[in-house]
Amino acid sequence: MTATIPPAIGQPLSRVDGRAKVSGTARYASEIPVPDMAYAYVVGSRIAAGRVIAIDTSAALAEEGVLAVLTHQTLPKIAEQPPLIPSLAGTAAPGQTFFPLQDDTVHYAGQQIALVVADTWERAQYAARLLRVSYAETPPVTTLDQGRGLSYEPERIFGGWVPGRIERGDVEAGLREADVRVGGTYTYAANHHHPIEPSCTTAQWDGDDLLLYDATQGVNATQMTVSRLLGVPMSRIRVIGHYAGGSFGSKAMIHAHPTLAAMAARAVGRPVKLVLTREQMFTSVGHREEQEQHITLGATHDGRLTAVRHHKLSPTSHFDDWAEPSVGTSSQIYACPHYEGVYRLFRANTMTPTFMRAPGEASGMVALECSLDELAHELGLDPIELRLRNHTDVDAMTGLPWSSSGLRECYERGAQRFGWAGRDPRPGTRRDGNWLIGTGMATACYPVAPLANPQRARARLYADGTAVVQAATPDFGTGVATVMAQVAADGLGVSVERCRFENGDTDLPNIAAAVGSAGAGMISAAVHSAASALRRQLIRSAVGDPGSPLHGADPVDVVVHDGVITAGTASESYSDLLRRTFRPDAEAAGQWKPPAHDTPYAMMTFGAQFAEVAVDAELGLVRVRRMTGAFAPGRVLNPKTARSQLMGGMLWGLGQALLEANHMRPDTGRWVNSSLGEYLVPVNADAPDVDVELIEVEDDIVNPLGVKGVGEIGQVGAAAAIANAVHHATGRRVRRLPIMIEDLL
Ligand code: MOS
Repeated sequence: MTATIPPAIGQPLSRVDGRAKVSGTARYASEIPVPDMAYAYVVGSRIAAGRVIAIDTSAALAEEGVLAVLTHQTLPKIAEQPPLIPSLAGTAAPGQTFFPLQDDTVHYAGQQIALVVADTWERAQYAARLLRVSYAETPPVTTLDQGRGLSYEPERIFGGWVPGRIERGDVEAGLREADVRVGGTYTYAANHHHPIEPSCTTAQWDGDDLLLYDATQGVNATQMTVSRLLGVPMSRIRVIGHYAGGSFGSKAMIHAHPTLAAMAARAVGRPVKLVLTREQMFTSVGHREEQEQHITLGATHDGRLTAVRHHKLSPTSHFDDWAEPSVGTSSQIYACPHYEGVYRLFRANTMTPTFMRAPGEASGMVALECSLDELAHELGLDPIELRLRNHTDVDAMTGLPWSSSGLRECYERGAQRFGWAGRDPRPGTRRDGNWLIGTGMATACYPVAPLANPQRARARLYADGTAVVQAATPDFGTGVATVMAQVAADGLGVSVERCRFENGDTDLPNIAAAVGSAGAGMISAAVHSAASALRRQLIRSAVGDPGSPLHGADPVDVVVHDGVITAGTASESYSDLLRRTFRPDAEAAGQWKPPAHDTPYAMMTFGAQFAEVAVDAELGLVRVRRMTGAFAPGRVLNPKTARSQLMGGMLWGLGQALLEANHMRPDTGRWVNSSLGEYLVPVNADAPDVDVELIEVEDDIVNPLGVKGVGEIGQVGAAAAIANAVHHATGRRVRRLPIMIEDLL
């Protein structure tokens, strides 16, 4: 009898590359040695608006080891203006339509104005200091206060994906008929991603062929972008990026540096490595924009929403209409007849903002969920009860049913684990010595990204019984190599120890950039398809082969466990089959086309967040003591890596609520914080117990394995739960993030 092995999917396996990562043997993009390498140092503009009049390069060029100084006067022109649409699914994704070093205009502080290339990094950096740059400066506009009077309503935002206005019903009428109205203005400081690994690219030309080692969320996106900007065919560009040391959206768009590295390498005739400094990470890879949201909820006495009005104002660049879609889920997740969501933008001296973890939802759900908390307080209703009264089984905007939800179970299980029942709703009533104690909750939700292009993977089984599955995707910390080995093992019917996932290379089957929490869903779909195709191929081969003990068996009666094909009492291992038929290996390709927009379902992931805070009544200090999150992310491929993603997201929500902030100076147009020492993020000492509950829901719409994604939803609602807990502790409704000590004194 065949020993049965449990399915690999769902096992809490440790990362297959964990040891390589912690021991330093995993090679990140900038660590891959290339012979004869030169180093590029980027020089950014010191002014935020105006023109470069002249750059005196003579002193820099006279330094030993300096190979070139490239400025707008010497760098070649790009072949094509970068496209606006950041469709990471199928086209190039440069992040903004502006490409630097093409003329003398300065649009924002830190904009690249020169590249110094030298034989060592230190010499390039030193020579960069010798450049004499003269500017003609004009007064910048960078802050909300400066831009408020200059705003306009864009037709579309977020790279064209989202309309600038979302409406249903008559929001004025809805607010008029309401018994209660709550809301206010929520302001949010700008945020930066700051992965530990800064963005970096090494470029190496071999004749007309370009090889790039790039830290990216999508090697294919890098390939497509550089191809378009340089006018080099895609078939001539190979991009390798096995690992990225964190990303969170900063490596989703392909910003200017990979193309600049390729241009510099061509200019000096040597491979060139370009690594952004920590300071340059503030001005080169996008950020979450500073913003202001105005929200008004109207409701009946019994807590039914009659209207939601949700407006947002934020700065964008001089060239793109970008706002993260903060107004969106507020139109979808609660039943409410009247809705109005409007974006307003103003042109500012900034680069185009970009995706940052839960782009839009992380900020928008703060305004919505804090306002619901306010409403619950006004009406004397429990916050969960208020949400249940407005629960909807359909997308309130489109009327389409959710492909799956699980939200009710999330409230229920989250409340149980947190110990929500019996909470005294009166603010300021619980104390622990000098600390005021409060608890708060919020709904979490994140859309299942409507990616459109087909995803591909390849599976190969060797006669020794080991298997390799391949797809182009890099691993930026999510555990994709582990999880995809699990998916492949079950698809093939072999043990997970015998499956290896090979990835991070454009020579492998194409996979869209892993964005929008869609990586696990889309890659698993392609890997599952490839592995299942290979299993079917081998079963067909066995039952059709007169030399096989399985000859003549009906394929539907055939099972495969641990590499052994069995039908009734007959069996043969994959290895025996391949060896007997003189095949060193067998291979199959798999493909999956996402349902995208052509399904009569709305696709959303749901969760519920709970937090307990302690606020020092005299000092205004806030400490988060506990966090519980219950999430329903469809099928969980690996509860250990999924839990890690969700915990990371929840702690990011803590940072959003209490720590993370950057501001532009109104006079210079430069970021006030430009190092990790000043840009605060939660450290271990700030991190409370984080309790994550996974609620599995079945979903056969989103993708073959029903994976809805865990990358972003952990952050959504966490900041709102904390802000609501601060209100419960102190009676103060703070509508500014991060919440500062001075807000509570
Ligand atoms: Mo993610 S913020 O969609 O890269």
